[in-house]
Amino acid sequence: MLVDGEERKSLWFEENALHLIDQRKLPFEYEIFVARNVEEVAFAIENMVVRGAPAIGVAAAYGVVLGKDLDESIERLKKTRPTANDLFYALDYMKKEIENGRDALNAAMDYEKRILRSCKKIGEYGEKLIEDGASILTHCNAGALATIDYGTALAPLREAHRRGKKFFVYVDETRPRMQGALTAWELQQEGIDYCLIADNAAGYYMSKGEIDLVIVGADRIASNGDVANKIGTYEKAVIAKENNIPFYVAAPASTIDRSIKSGMEIVIEERGEEELKEKWGCRILPDWIKVKNPAFDITPSKYITGYITDEGIKKEI
Ligand code: MRU
Repeated sequence: MLVDGEERKSLWFEENALHLIDQRKLPFEYEIFVARNVEEVAFAIENMVVRGAPAIGVAAAYGVVLGKDLDESIERLKKTRPTANDLFYALDYMKKEIENGRDALNAAMDYEKRILRSCKKIGEYGEKLIEDGASILTHCNAGALATIDYGTALAPLREAHRRGKKFFVYVDETRPRMQGALTAWELQQEGIDYCLIADNAAGYYMSKGEIDLVIVGADRIASNGDVANKIGTYEKAVIAKENNIPFYVAAPASTIDRSIKSGMEIVIEERGEEELKEKWGCRILPDWIKVKNPAFDITPSKYITGYITDEGIKKEI
């Protein structure tokens, strides 16, 4: 991904520490968070210094490298966030590799390369869906920040832009954590034409015929194709179907959970109330207001036109 015109990744391992672009600070400030032990990596995942399913997985893999005891490190990292399959997938991978005698850093670096390869492929396959002149809606941030580089939902857009296609992106702001601002930051850096809209404006633009295609990422995909993704994805999918707009989910193999039959089995993370009551250090609701804050929802497969994977575009997962 481009940051001020230079190619960067959203995290990297250097001098025995994990370096992460601090996603809590963007789009206002570009800062690097350095995690030197497993607890600091766990903190980074829990507090969304790093976020997005594939990036969480890679961060956790490097977290294992920084841990002293393999099982304790894995147990700690598994407790950070419950919904993204990639976290558990990466930790299972690390456990197997290390128990088979593999060097931990070597294994984590390979895991990162695998994710990068998958996202690049997703971009190459997904790019075909983007027609010149199209308007595309995306929800949350499924870009390079969420995946180390390229993105999942944003990878096809990056690739189409690279090939010279002209298109426009509607970016849902994605309350309460405003991941849309991260997507806007990435698109701005790449020079891709976009505007950010309030979450509840997407239906309006769909009904006016201003959106041709929806692409989102995923945190966990069940065997029947149901998708857990950022809260608000479900309603976008329903409105897209109502308006005959294709709705695609982009994800690597690490997001697919073959051990569960349907989305009903996916654990939905409930996050703290301060995410609704505070924005960038500013109080926007009084303490006494009661709130609920589910971080994800489930989109049943019947609303999904197809899955953009590293093996191609599929009707079924
Ligand atoms: O809570 P977050 O910001 O980690 O949630 C991220 C999302 O829901 C993304 O859309 C999803 O992980 C896909 S990331 C490529």
